[in-house]
Amino acid sequence: MNKIGVLTSGGDAPGMNAAIRAVVKAANYYHLDVMGIQYGYQGLIDGKIHRLTSSEVEDIADRGGTILKTSRSLEFMEETGRKKALEVLGKFDINSLVVIGGEGSLKGAEKLHELGIKVIGIPGTIDNDLTYTDYSIGFDTTLNTILDCMGKIKDTDFSHDKTTIVEVMGRYCGDLALYSALAGGGEIISTPERKLDFDTICSKLRSRITGGKNDNLVIVTERMYDLQELQRYIEEKLNISVRTTVLGFIQRGGNPSAFDRVLAGEMGVMAVELLMNGQSGQAVGIKENIIIHKELENVNVEMTEKQDKYRLLEKLLH
Ligand code: F6P
Repeated sequence: MNKIGVLTSGGDAPGMNAAIRAVVKAANYYHLDVMGIQYGYQGLIDGKIHRLTSSEVEDIADRGGTILKTSRSLEFMEETGRKKALEVLGKFDINSLVVIGGEGSLKGAEKLHELGIKVIGIPGTIDNDLTYTDYSIGFDTTLNTILDCMGKIKDTDFSHDKTTIVEVMGRYCGDLALYSALAGGGEIISTPERKLDFDTICSKLRSRITGGKNDNLVIVTERMYDLQELQRYIEEKLNISVRTTVLGFIQRGGNPSAFDRVLAGEMGVMAVELLMNGQSGQAVGIKENIIIHKELENVNVEMTEKQDKYRLLEKLLH
């Protein structure tokens, strides 16, 4: 092995650049070149590849997004697309690859592993929905962004005795909502793992209002409700004024937190070390503060309720 390819795929996540930097630095330490593949798997198919120099990555750890750019490639999902990708890897003499991305991207990495490419995956997604790892790169930064936004919404809610429904990202995983609530960012939460119906949300709000708390945040994970319908329902049932804020893409941008940069640095180096040790088909992760790796075939996003955290939350939000 004298060359490693690296790509970022799927939704960007803050900290991906720190991971790219770590891959390049660690590879250079072992006198290996790194080929940067732009636009994820689509760029691989299209041959958008250049050598990444250490000076190109030296100062990128603090930047959000991904300098390699990213995409969600439909072509790569087809066998013909993957065959093309394989040919391009051969043309550039790349037989080892680091893939940074979420579930779909790591599934793609597994396919390349099955086709004989040496591949290591790094979890890069704000959703934190991969069950094999406690944290994915980007989650912590997004959580902090959400808390910052919620603080601002709370100021105006307090001033007007207002209730606001705040929708956060997460795809089908409630971690961003759950951790926001644990960090003191909201009063009532509904996540895919513990979905509240409209009446339960109303009765929780009613008991808070009766207890004298007139400004309240209702945090919900995206894709769960028709928010206008929920807002109307609460307004009519409780006769209060409600607003809705969808945080949207501000959650995915921004400078990565220290936690995400450190995590990305550790995972990037670990990925290169695994390749150096002849390993393939592995996804790097973190469990109980230790950097670990698991077979890519065991990567999934099963909805697992974080029971310990919900149990603690019940004592915080009542
Ligand atoms: O997976 C990251 C994520 O931001 C999800 O939270 C969200 O549901 C999705 O990507 C949005 O995808 P897109 O960028 O394709 O609109």
